[in-house]
Amino acid sequence: MYCTRKVTNHIYWVGGSDHRLSLFENLFPIPRGVAYNSYIILDEKTALVDTVDSSITRQFLENIEHVLDGRPLDYMIINHMEPDHCATIEELVYRYPNIKIVATAKAIQMIHQFYNFEEKDNTITVKENDTLSLGSHTLNFVTAPMVHWPEVMMTYESSEKILFSADAFGSFGALDGNLFNDEVNFESEWLDDARRYYSNIVGKYGVQVQAALKKAAKLEIQMICPLHGPVWRTNISWFIEKYDKWSRYEPEEHALVIFYGSIYGNTENAATVLASKLSEAGIKNIKLYDVSGTHVSYLVSEAWRCSHIVFASPTYNMNLYPPMESAIHDLKALNLQNRTVAVIDNGSWANAAGKAMRNMLAEMKNITLLEDQLSLVSSLKESQMEQLTQMANSIISSYFPQ
Ligand code: FEO
Repeated sequence: MYCTRKVTNHIYWVGGSDHRLSLFENLFPIPRGVAYNSYIILDEKTALVDTVDSSITRQFLENIEHVLDGRPLDYMIINHMEPDHCATIEELVYRYPNIKIVATAKAIQMIHQFYNFEEKDNTITVKENDTLSLGSHTLNFVTAPMVHWPEVMMTYESSEKILFSADAFGSFGALDGNLFNDEVNFESEWLDDARRYYSNIVGKYGVQVQAALKKAAKLEIQMICPLHGPVWRTNISWFIEKYDKWSRYEPEEHALVIFYGSIYGNTENAATVLASKLSEAGIKNIKLYDVSGTHVSYLVSEAWRCSHIVFASPTYNMNLYPPMESAIHDLKALNLQNRTVAVIDNGSWANAAGKAMRNMLAEMKNITLLEDQLSLVSSLKESQMEQLTQMANSIISSYFPQ
């Protein structure tokens, strides 16, 4: 049975959600599922804005049929050619043979890369500032290359002031009936997943997101319709500010997180003792994560949130403990910047973790590595408590500057 939502009088959401998929991109855990949004604009001409993932094809096709109510589909706007949004292009061409596909040149090239698509005279290549009239609605195309793929564009509908933003402003999480941001508790229930989505998938491309935000700032926006997660119709500037901060690699909060790896619990013990000292000194809401038991996408998201990060890791095979190496490698690959960090290392007979962590962190941009460090030999001893206190004091001075 179809399941659609009215976005405005002439625009309908025809997407769907997948609650079964466990790993988005076969990589990121999505315990809350994921939504694939798609929209239809009804005017003198009809236009579909993006398609969906193959997992919800049946639902999607029923939704389209219901909203069109016998009308033809004139245009299919492709803002993004990643398969979670374009899996049904061929099927739609078969069903609506007169449809015109509207996309950037790069996106049209990608259609042919992904699919055995027979090119008829059915594509319209658009570039920056091109427009397409549907009647009383006009689509304005705004390119957004490398947010987070090269072919990406956003589509701005100027009569209702709606930005169809592709992956930008999206989030992990299924839409359980509620479609709009003001129908859910976004800050308490969605923000962490929105940040995890942004930091892991788009995080590397902060410069390009900033360029897209500058273009968006010139538009009067009443509503943002992303490809994942809720549609934004209230408090839009609050979410744009989050994106602005995330893409400038500014910490979202003045907050401290400790990432530790621990083989037998000794490095964890030192991390916990440090956390207690920091708490006694007034640092609130400290979060401690075991890098072995926490999917790296959550660590990345927390690194995007927090201003201060402590890395605590044992040595393994005369190098860094692999889960910690993987975590720091990801943070580096995603361009994390502008953080204050401290390091605890451990080694029973050939300590190499500290040097390895310091070297990796030194290669990242604007990372302030605090000088006071703690180097353990197997376990934290009373004789090292002064050193740990000194390290805690150094973190506290940086956290609460005079
Ligand atoms: Fe949601 Fe980049 O695909």
